[in-house]
Amino acid sequence: MLASVYAPKDFKRLRVSGDLVARCFDFITPHIVAGVSTGEIDRLVAQFLKENGARSSDLGYMGYPKSICTSVNDVIVHGIPSDDVILKDGDIVNVDLTAEYHGFHADASRMFMIGNVSNKARELVQTCQDALNSAISICAPGVPLSEIGKTIEAVVKPHGFSISRDFVGHGIGKVMHDDPQIFHFYDKMWDKVKMVPGLVFTIEPMINTGKPDCKIDADGWTARTVDGGLSAQWEHTLGITEDGVIIFTEKM
Ligand code: MF3
Ligand code: CO
Ligand code: CO
Repeated sequence: MLASVYAPKDFKRLRVSGDLVARCFDFITPHIVAGVSTGEIDRLVAQFLKENGARSSDLGYMGYPKSICTSVNDVIVHGIPSDDVILKDGDIVNVDLTAEYHGFHADASRMFMIGNVSNKARELVQTCQDALNSAISICAPGVPLSEIGKTIEAVVKPHGFSISRDFVGHGIGKVMHDDPQIFHFYDKMWDKVKMVPGLVFTIEPMINTGKPDCKIDADGWTARTVDGGLSAQWEHTLGITEDGVIIFTEKM
């Protein structure tokens, strides 16, 4: 169940991979504005990763055709970048970027608000980021994995938003997706499983203004809210240390 437990020397590698992902976000951020296509953002990431000797973990994964996922407005996850999807004023977009560098994968996603965004959308994006940060803050050796979902629920529920149940965080390291699954809602199954030093995983809550449920587009990837409501997601790759937690996907 805890496949993704790594040694301190591996944490150094993960730190470098995570730093690269954070720097790639810095590189693309000024370009994420009204009028730009998600296909163009994908090309910028591909260029950055190539120039830095890294590769996209997404490209070719189970046949996935692009280097990142770009999920706009009602798309919950796995939106495929396209020259036909042009960002416009009022949109919210998640960019999810996973890179492999010297054999170690780091996975993060951030929200971007394009121009004048509605108060509701702004609240959704902020609440989701707060939920991720609160969940990170409780991570430490001995803490049950179920505390992650419990903490996210406590942040999200007062706002009346729903939490997607169809996608989970995951162990990560030498592969992109590994055990354990990280639930973003409370599940008693994870009461008994405790965090241990060396455990590496993502937390990546997806929250919606309406119903939690999703439907998948004909492309086989794009997951949208069934009711057309907005969806937001933030993600970091984390490692449990002897006395707490380290966020790998921040700049060093
Ligand atoms: N980065 C995604 C995650 O958070 C995985 C995307 S897989 C892809 O787990 F194939 F859709 F790119
Ligand atoms: Co991701
Ligand atoms: Co992930």
